[in-house]
Amino acid sequence: MSNPDTPHQVPALDVSGLTVRYGPVTALDDVSMTIRPGRICGLIGMNGSGKSTLFKSIMGLVRPTAGRVTIAGHDTAHARSRGLLSYVPQAEDVDWQFPISVREVAMTGRYGRQNLFRRITARDNSAVDDALAQVGLTELADRQIGRLSGGQRKRAFVARGIAQGAEILLLDEPFAGVDKRSEATIIDLLTDLAAAGRTVLISTHDLSTLPSFADEAVLLMQRVLVHGTPEEALRPENLALAFGVDVTERRDHPTRTDAEVGR
Ligand SMILES: Nc1ncnc2c1ncn2[C@@H]1O[C@H](COP(=O)(O)OP(=O)(O)OP(=O)(O)O)[C@@H](O)[C@H]1O
Ligand SMILES: [Mg+2]
Repeated sequence: MSNPDTPHQVPALDVSGLTVRYGPVTALDDVSMTIRPGRICGLIGMNGSGKSTLFKSIMGLVRPTAGRVTIAGHDTAHARSRGLLSYVPQAEDVDWQFPISVREVAMTGRYGRQNLFRRITARDNSAVDDALAQVGLTELADRQIGRLSGGQRKRAFVARGIAQGAEILLLDEPFAGVDKRSEATIIDLLTDLAAAGRTVLISTHDLSTLPSFADEAVLLMQRVLVHGTPEEALRPENLALAFGVDVTERRDHPTRTDAEVGR
C-alpha cells in the first residue's frame, strides 16, 4: 500500500557518509543519520565532538570532504531557497552587535535567499507578529538583538523559524545559559511544532531534560556512536563512550566522592 514516493516516506533529514575536515582536524567522520518528519532528535556529545559542524554542514555553511545531506528530498541549496531550513546558531557564532531588531531577526525568516529585496507584505507582518507573540517577545520587538538576555535571544531565533514556516529546525545549544523557565518555553514551542509535523534537530548539554522532549537521540563523537531512544543514548556505558568518563559516577556514589574529597 505504501508508495515510496509519497511525502511521508521521504526523510526530513538524510545525512549520508558525511566527513568534514578542517585542515588536519577531522570534525566529522562518515556520519550517517536519518530523521523522519515530525520527530525531535537530540544531538549530544562532548565539546569538539562535531555537533556545530554537523549543523553547519546541513546548512551548507561548511563544505563536506565527503558525503551528502538531503533535506526533504532536496539538496541544501534548494532546501534553503525554499525556506525549508531554519537554524539557531550557537551563541558564540552570532554577532550580537549587529544593528538589527528582534522584529527584523524574525522577519529575516520570511526572506527566501532570492527574495532579499522584495517588498514586505501584510502577510509577512502578521506572520512575524504571530511568531513574536508565540515566543513572548512582542514587547521587545523593537529592541536591538544584542540588548536581550540569553534566553530572549534564543527565543528571537525560534521566532524566525516559526515566521518562516520552516519544515526543519536546527537548534545548536538553545539552552546554554538559559534559565529553566525559558528552557521550558522553548521546549513547549518545539513540541507544538513537532506535533504539527515539523522536524527538530537540537544539540544540548542538558542531558537530564532530554528524555522529556526528544523522541530520539544521537550520541556523536566525530562518528555516530548511538542513534536510538533518549534512554538508550543516555545509558551509562554509552555516555562513557561519548564523554570518555562515567558521568553518572558522581551521582551514583556521592558519599564515596565526598569521602575522597575529604581524605
Ligand atoms: N573553523 C574551524 N577551523 C578549524 N577547526 C575547527 C573549526 N571549527 C571547528 N573546528 C574543530 O572541529 C572540531 C569540531 O568542532 P565543533 O564546533 O563542531 O564541535 P561541537 O561539538 O559543536 O563543540 P561544542 O560542544 O564545544 O560546541 C573541533 O575539534 C574543533 O576544534
Ligand atoms: Mg558547538
